[in-house]
Amino acid sequence: MFMSRQYPLRSALALACALLPLGGLAQDAAAPRTVAALPAELPDSGEPTPPSPAVADQEAAGTPGLEANFGIGRAATEEEIAAIDIDVTPDGHGLPDGRGSYADGKALYDERCLACHGENLEGIPETGGPALIGGRDTLASDTPLKTVESYLAHASTLYDYIHRAMPMDAPGSLTPDEVYAVSAYILGRAGIVDETTVLDRESLPLIHMPNAEGFADDPRPERL
Ligand code: HEC
Repeated sequence: MFMSRQYPLRSALALACALLPLGGLAQDAAAPRTVAALPAELPDSGEPTPPSPAVADQEAAGTPGLEANFGIGRAATEEEIAAIDIDVTPDGHGLPDGRGSYADGKALYDERCLACHGENLEGIPETGGPALIGGRDTLASDTPLKTVESYLAHASTLYDYIHRAMPMDAPGSLTPDEVYAVSAYILGRAGIVDETTVLDRESLPLIHMPNAEGFADDPRPERL
């Protein structure tokens, strides 16, 4: 018993001693920094190396709103902007074509969401997945339960959030049809729509959420 407690301590000390000289060596080996000439192309992507500040300033002079730059980077392409321009506003602006039903949503939910949010959308604390339904009228109480059902003012927020962030292990992987479908399923299980519901860019913004009147308007609209 005594020996078995001593042994790990002694080997830990031996390891610490062995590491000390290594630390010293690493510092000695630090090479002096040099500045290398930039290659014409970036090695990984093959893209042209960004222009020098002087050239970039000339280009910026012809670009409205771009007054100065740091001599790095380039203007984003339309495809690059489209790939991250995914926000959906409360009135439904930004919703894509596509449609999805409650029934399709249930199948998708069971496969891609249930593991973290639970069979009854009650949440699974061990995974960090919160409850998605329930909690209606609890927000002003001492034990508020914030869910899709109790908290969101607009159904479009549900679409936006699922599309950009879920499933947590593969965000952005769902097609528009799948996001419409799983939204219909969650809203159905919340008792906000019925099980025959099919959602698309027209019908989703028309859904009235239980907490729609629970938010105050921003008193500074000019800042948005
Ligand atoms: C690997 C676990 C995991 C999977 C799988 C997963 N989620 Fe989540 N989900 C989470 C976690 C964790 C959060 C909380 C994130 C946070 O608060 O930042 C969350 C939050 C959410 C929310 C916001 C809930 C709220 O009230 O704020 C929604 C809606 C949601 N998930 C839907 C889905 C859907 C739909 C799927 C399947 C397509 C899915 N999730 C799959 C872990 C997961």
